[in-house]
Amino acid sequence: MNSENIYSTFDRLLHREDRERLLEQTAKVFWLTGLSGAGKTTIAVGLQRALHAQGKLAYVLDGDNIRLGISSNLGFSTIDRSENIRRVAETAKLFLDAGIITICSFISPTNDLRSIAKAIIGENDFLEVYINAPIATCKERDVKGLYSKAEAGEIKDFTGVTALFEAPAKPNLEIKTNLQNEDESVLAFANFASRHIKVQ
Ligand code: ADX
Repeated sequence: MNSENIYSTFDRLLHREDRERLLEQTAKVFWLTGLSGAGKTTIAVGLQRALHAQGKLAYVLDGDNIRLGISSNLGFSTIDRSENIRRVAETAKLFLDAGIITICSFISPTNDLRSIAKAIIGENDFLEVYINAPIATCKERDVKGLYSKAEAGEIKDFTGVTALFEAPAKPNLEIKTNLQNEDESVLAFANFASRHIKVQ
């Protein structure tokens, strides 16, 4: 008998658990929400680097790699943000199935948007991290110069100025970036993450 035939198609399929064993990690999605300039991407990239140093495979999805590509046809209206988050969540779900620790860094300004992401990803794999800096701090930092443009009326629907930001009521982790520096924030996140990504 051909040895191929003794295996059913099902047995030949590899599962997420097989890939997680190979990578010696448990895949999760860490979903970072917060205002523009709160420090989401800085902390996401810092966590990715810390995990890499521990031999863990992690990947960051953020505005830079998503809005320039897969979401390049979307703006910041309510409907476009919702489609952006849907695409991000579906992408994150594939990364998760690949066994990769996935760090999503998106304003995702409302409870509704974050619920959409959570429903797509699955509540067991979705960890909400609120990167919290007061709006006054974000405006002061104005890293990309967008707050002054928004206040001058040059950008419409800008989160925190002319569009709503709803703080998450019960995030799994909250990091206050006006009270601790980048290294402290990354360390707090890495400690939290390490409890969720160990091989079972
Ligand atoms: S989300 O609301 O759909 O989650 P996302 O995180 O992808 O937003 O993109 C936010 C980034 O886009 C901001 O950090 C900022 O650099 C840029 N941006 C451009 N226009 C806007 C806007 N109107 N509101 C918020 N962010 C904007």
